Order: sequence, then structure tokens, then C-alpha cells
Amino acid sequence: MPARIAPSLLAADFARLAEEVGRVEPHVDLLHLDVMDGHFVPNLSFGMPVIESLRAVTDLYFDCHLMVTNPISLFEPLAGAGANLVTIHIEVHPDPTRAAEKARELGLDFGLVIDPGTPFEAVAPFVELCDLLLLMAVQPGFGGQAFIPEVLPKMETARKFIDSAGLNTDIEIDGGITPETARRARDAGADVFVAGTAIFRAPDPVAAVERLRTAVDGME
Ligand code: DX5
Ligand code: ZN
Repeated sequence: MPARIAPSLLAADFARLAEEVGRVEPHVDLLHLDVMDGHFVPNLSFGMPVIESLRAVTDLYFDCHLMVTNPISLFEPLAGAGANLVTIHIEVHPDPTRAAEKARELGLDFGLVIDPGTPFEAVAPFVELCDLLLLMAVQPGFGGQAFIPEVLPKMETARKFIDSAGLNTDIEIDGGITPETARRARDAGADVFVAGTAIFRAPDPVAAVERLRTAVDGME
């Protein structure tokens, strides 16, 4: 599958969100939205009102990464606000079967997220329910952290599992993504690359997207 770039809005200037999104929109494939509750992770970000406002200014696919204790309760309002995909942490719902059903009833795509310390085996029985599997390369909750390279062998395991089962589940990597770490994740099997700091904190976010794209598309 071609590599896709997903800017994480968490690193954008929250006083100028429409402008920040509009600048990168023609150059990226989807938008990664980190929803936090101050409980599952010790940080708060944004929720439905912000997502609904963004929906009015962009047609980008909204990938909503739910770092919350009760993600299922947010599916309906998120669908109403314009979300396209919801991903929930396996650490919150060790059996996510009902969550996947609920997401699909609402017309949402569905995915699972695993923290750096969670083994692939925790999600293996449920990958077939997923449009996307998100592997965290940092502890969830904050942008700007360093990439944890131990995610790479787990990525290889996930890639082999998905390919040998004949699934078309995408694999996404989130946290500490730079051109260098994106390339390593691409080699290990990632399809979708989330980058916050590397894009929105760069002097030229569009040039930063192009650097990431060159890194993941080169030397396939
Ligand atoms: C962290 C979030 C990430 C974050 C990534 O909990 O899930 O999406 O925005 O930020 P960077 O790219 O700065 O590591
Ligand atoms: Zn995220």
C-alpha cells in the first residue's frame, strides 16, 4: 500500500487551527486527532466542538485517536461531529468486539491502539475487526517525545500477521516520527505515519510533509 501522512493536530497552534489545517491539507492524506480525557492519560486536548468546527473547514478524513477511559460513549457524538475513524486502546477494552460493532453501526471506521509496552498478542485476535491498527512509539498523552525503537519488531510481527491472514488492515505508527524514524517504521511495515512536532513545529510545515514523504517513499 502507498504510504500515507497524517499530521497530528496536537502540535498545531490551537489559536489558528483552520489556518494550520488548510496549509497542509493539499499535501497530506488524512488528519490525526488526539482526543484525551485527563484520566486515561494525564492530559486534556480537545473534543467534539473543535472537531465539528474543523469538519466545516476541511474534507480531510478524520482519524480520531481516543485516549480516554470510556471511548464507546464518545462514538455517537464523534460521528455527529464528523469523525471518520475511531481508534480505541486495547488497554481500555481487552475485548473490543462490542466497540467495533457499535462503531460500524454508526458508520465509523474502527481501529485498535497498543501502547509501547503492550505485546502484539493482546490485539491479534481482534485485528480482523480493524480497518487500522495503531502502534504507539511513545507513551500516549503528549507530543514531542522520542521514538521508542522497541516498537519496530512489534511492527514486523503485525505486518506478517496481517499479510499472512490476507487482511487489509492498515498499520499506523504514532509518536516521535521524523524522516529517519518514519523510514525505519516503513521498512518494518507501517502504512500510515502520524507526525505532530515534525510537521506543525517545523518552520515550513509543507516542506516537512514532503521530507517525510520522500523518506517513506524512497528505496521501497
Ligand atoms: C501522543 C499522540 C500523538 C502526538 C504525536 O499521545 O497520540 O499523536 O501528537 O506527537 P509527536 O509527533 O510530536 O510525537
Ligand atoms: Zn495520536
